[in-house]
Amino acid sequence: MTDGIISFIGGGNMASSLVGGLIADGRDPASIYVTDVEAAKLEALAEAFRIQTSSDNEEAVSHANCVVFAVKPQSMAALVESIAVPAKAHRPLFVSIAAGVREPDIRRWLGFDAAIVRSMPNTPALVGSGATALYANAFVNDEQHSLAESILRAVGLTLWVENEDLLDAVTALSGSGPAYYFLLMESMERAGIALGLSKDHARMLTIQTAFGAAKMALESSDAPATLRTRVTSPGGTTERALDALTAGGLEHLVHEAVQAAHTRSLELGVEFGRDTDSNEESD
Ligand SMILES: NC(=O)c1ccc[n+]([C@@H]2O[C@H](COP(=O)([O-])OP(=O)(O)OC[C@H]3O[C@@H](n4cnc5c(N)ncnc54)[C@H](OP(=O)(O)O)[C@@H]3O)[C@@H](O)[C@H]2O)c1
Repeated sequence: MTDGIISFIGGGNMASSLVGGLIADGRDPASIYVTDVEAAKLEALAEAFRIQTSSDNEEAVSHANCVVFAVKPQSMAALVESIAVPAKAHRPLFVSIAAGVREPDIRRWLGFDAAIVRSMPNTPALVGSGATALYANAFVNDEQHSLAESILRAVGLTLWVENEDLLDAVTALSGSGPAYYFLLMESMERAGIALGLSKDHARMLTIQTAFGAAKMALESSDAPATLRTRVTSPGGTTERALDALTAGGLEHLVHEAVQAAHTRSLELGVEFGRDTDSNEESD
């Protein structure tokens, strides 16, 4: 690959997964740079991946073609303002993976019309099975578009949205979604135990069933509704269970849950978008 240097600011869980994914995809480790405030994290990353590491964010921005913001959303305002000078001089592509931090806020903190891609990955990215939606502002060129996509594709599926507001819907669906499935798994495991299965067996059967259903849905060209109908024999056990779920209002509940996550995403966008001086005032 000849995309120049990619600098990750923040060497935590997500940066580590992205770096691992990029190297597995064939990127030269010498073209990857990671900064963090913790020396121990940097040492572990350098040892695991043979990449370059540093605690100097300004230097990381100055020699990069692409800077990935991989810090917590609450740290974004102070971080972005702190690298604004080298950013303006050098003008790399910026890719943010910080949940809920909006592109106009990042651009305002940088202080110029920077090329910014905002992305919303989810936790399964940590095991290479993420679902990430990306949004590019008007200053991102075709080459930068491809580079941003290749970084997130290293940890799973990617898709682009045309309107940044849709990232709140993405947050509510796939961003928070893994926890919805974990809750369903917990409930199924408990139900299996109540029917006499051991905890280990109930868990193994639940998890493999979730994996198998997801794999079937991924590999089939049929919609989940068709797959469901196909495994539901009239008068059988599955039909009886689905009737109970429908009578209990499952579809309405899921709709309410996703709406609630969407509302919270909008609220967090406002909170994370505050400037550092107004953050300090609100503390
Ligand atoms: N993990 C996920 O599943 C997931 C999913 C979707 C989106 N994301 C997004 O990905 C981002 C990173 O998440 P994560 O789980 O990787 O977080 P993390 O493990 O906490 O990693 C962030 C790292 O950045 C460091 N850091 C903080 N301020 C810094 C600065 N000014 N300069 C350099 N390094 C700095 C942190 O150090 P300290 O710990 O010492 O502060 C920490 O090591 C978040 O914005 C999150 O919203 C994560």
